[in-house]
Amino acid sequence: MDYRITNDGSKTLFSSKYNQTFHSLQDGALSESLYKHIIPAFQLVENKTKLNILDICFGLGYNTFGTIYYIKENNLNIKVNFYSPELDDELIESLINFEYPKEFDTIKEIIVSLAKEKCYKDNQFQINLFIGDAREYIKTLSNINIVYQDAFSSDTNHELWTKEYFSDISKIAASDAIITTYSIATPIRLAIYENNFDVYEYQSSIKKRSTIAFKEKIKSHHLINLKYIDMEKKKINSPKAAPLRDLNLEIYK
Ligand SMILES: C[S@@+](CC[C@H](N)C(=O)[O-])C[C@H]1O[C@@H](n2cnc3c(N)ncnc32)[C@H](O)[C@@H]1O
Repeated sequence: MDYRITNDGSKTLFSSKYNQTFHSLQDGALSESLYKHIIPAFQLVENKTKLNILDICFGLGYNTFGTIYYIKENNLNIKVNFYSPELDDELIESLINFEYPKEFDTIKEIIVSLAKEKCYKDNQFQINLFIGDAREYIKTLSNINIVYQDAFSSDTNHELWTKEYFSDISKIAASDAIITTYSIATPIRLAIYENNFDVYEYQSSIKKRSTIAFKEKIKSHHLINLKYIDMEKKKINSPKAAPLRDLNLEIYK
């Protein structure tokens, strides 16, 4: 796979299988990870001391490694179990040679362990990497607090954006779980909403719009750039709008 330099200087890869880059070139690989996933998620789960995070899917691991970087930078007293599926075993093995941004220099040991052993554990962090299909893997999990929903786009990575997929996510989600995702498409938001998540639009200070979904009704929130999306109203205003479904995915029937 060819690498690409993104706008914040961090590197990503181009996948010829999915015909797209692993991160938005415009937003930057590290910035996308921090501003669309990690920072909003951690502001919303502020007082927790233990978290289970599902990283869909591992890829280059920016979301998992970025979370560890963020926790260390901010001296957060929190233990995290990461769960992350990834189809591409060769990609994981190649991460040992991938040029990550300098922010990850202090966690090089973790990256090496992941690439070699496919797992990592210390007193604060445990990373469980599963080589195989995310749809099968998620059924084995429970009590997930945060889902970083960061698959390739739904036109090519369809199976990780459907109503049926989010139904499985809903089953393994803790009562106060949140989903963070770059996708703002209505069929995706409906697939999440129709599994009893409330949908919000998030606008970070420097990045494009993204989506945060809450399993629990939130009464107040301290993320100022969070806007409630009334999905019932959306359905009335756009009667043809429908959630993405498995339908043609014989494999998951
Ligand atoms: C957009 S990339 C992930 C970006 C990732 N957050 C990062 O930092 O690199 C999507 C990843 O999902 C993997 N993938 C796609 N479909 C999958 C599936 N059904 N199960 C497991 N992994 C999958 C791809 O191999 C790819 O590595």
